[in-house]
Amino acid sequence: MAAAYRLLFLLAVSLAAVSAARAHNITAILEGYSEYSLYNSYLSQTKVCDEINGRSTVTSLVLTNGAMSSLVSNLSLADVKNALRLLTLLDYYDPKKLHSLHGGSELTTTLYQTTGDASGDMGHVNITNLRGGKVGFASAQPGAKFQATYTKSVKEEPYNLSVLEVSDPITFPGLFTAASAASTNLTALLEKAGCKRFAALVVSSGVIKTYQAAMDKALTLFAPTDDAFHAKGLPDLAKLTAADLVTLLEYHALPQYAPKASLKTIRGGIPTLASTGKGKYDLSVVARGDDVSMDTGMDKSRVASTVLDDTPVAVHTVDSVLLPPELFGGAPSPAPAGASADTPASAPAPETASAPAPAPTKHHEKKKPKGKPHSPPAPPADSPDMAPADAPDGDEADKADDKSAAVAVGTGFAAMVASVAAMVGASLL
Ligand SMILES: *[C@@H]1O[C@H](CO)[C@@H](O)[C@H](O)[C@H]1NC(C)=O
Ligand SMILES: *[C@@H]1O[C@H](CO)[C@@H](O)[C@H](O)[C@H]1NC(C)=O
Ligand SMILES: *[C@@H]1O[C@H](CO)[C@@H](O)[C@H](O)[C@H]1NC(C)=O
Ligand SMILES: *[C@@H]1O[C@H](CO)[C@@H](O)[C@H](O)[C@H]1NC(C)=O
Ligand SMILES: *[C@@H]1O[C@H](CO)[C@@H](O)[C@H](O)[C@H]1NC(C)=O
Repeated sequence: MAAAYRLLFLLAVSLAAVSAARAHNITAILEGYSEYSLYNSYLSQTKVCDEINGRSTVTSLVLTNGAMSSLVSNLSLADVKNALRLLTLLDYYDPKKLHSLHGGSELTTTLYQTTGDASGDMGHVNITNLRGGKVGFASAQPGAKFQATYTKSVKEEPYNLSVLEVSDPITFPGLFTAASAASTNLTALLEKAGCKRFAALVVSSGVIKTYQAAMDKALTLFAPTDDAFHAKGLPDLAKLTAADLVTLLEYHALPQYAPKASLKTIRGGIPTLASTGKGKYDLSVVARGDDVSMDTGMDKSRVASTVLDDTPVAVHTVDSVLLPPELFGGAPSPAPAGASADTPASAPAPETASAPAPAPTKHHEKKKPKGKPHSPPAPPADSPDMAPADAPDGDEADKADDKSAAVAVGTGFAAMVASVAAMVGASLL
């Protein structure tokens, strides 16, 4: 009997491994390693974790607490964010691949190239087999030094996610020059970003003070470009009362830090600075691949570019003015929540897979206290304990698997083994 339960346990574990490969959660993975806790904490603060989880094929080069603390000692969070992005390779590298590079070296793309402030080749990393069997990583910038070398493999989920420890950060002259929120003049930043009209309204209405107060805690701003104010069909904003103008401008800001990759993971209504509770003046997000739009329930406005990203402040430009139905909707408006319902269906799966849908949350919370990763295979009485052995991520599909696993536990043992085996088979397809 014991052997049979062991078999079942192994099946459950391999099922978990297969499920985990469908949507990874870098934060959850690194939580198991205290030597990378500082790195993990910065992944969360800068929300680079959302960028990593949104990629189906990725290699994370992690730094120990010692290397990480010397990196961050003198940097703004915006600069740390770029350093973490440069350590995130958009390809799968395990030790075997590292040591058998064709021609002894290879160029690879990083998150910094696709989402950071990179220009030219800056966001590419050259991996080279150095003398003495070491593998070095350096920026592709000419003359860059191979100060970062491979130390050990931490986690491999072929061929989706690999976590490798390296000795040092990858840097190059000019990497640490990101604009920081602390030293930013918001008005000047908006003007420079082509949002002069919005900047003028923000100053004349006094809402600038509300924004500035929020910048200390958390602020995400959606600044319509000057073109947005010339759009056909835009209501005459000059006709708004002073109070309504204030509401409109507050509607363009969130009291939370949401860089673009994190916006994609938000489901349902998002409170703005104008929100009064009960879903009034909330926004929702529509994401299609890398395209992110804010949905008011009346119109959608595309997030065009990010002009400032320094925890806890993000400033994005949007291509149209966000019109809250509460101010501009004549007839009862379609609720933003309804609009967000089409998000999961229309968005490509890998981009949104990491976000848990609202419904399964209950199930997730319920099973959390039961999580005993170190407990041995459970005796028959509390067999449901085996369910928590699955990956600690929020993949919706995992939830479905858990549920059927739990049902199986209630029925005959043979049926249970068969059903787990079937699930493993199905997952492998
Ligand atoms: C893992 O990689 C495969 C093949 O590249 C891909 O089809 C799958 O979607 C990936 N899984 C995740 C979680 O991104
Ligand atoms: C730390 O930052 C200050 C101010 O930006 C700068 O003057 C100093 O050179 C920096 N120190 C190091 C070691 O980079
Ligand atoms: C990587 O850098 C080394 C040393 O600068 C250089 O010899 C090699 O050609 C580079 N590899 C690639 C693929 O660019
Ligand atoms: C910020 O910039 C605006 C416009 O560029 C300028 O009028 C204002 O004086 C600046 N504020 C501060 C505090 O420097
Ligand atoms: C990833 O794991 C962390 C820690 O376990 C958790 O707080 C977070 O919600 C998870 N993220 C997703 C997208 O499931």
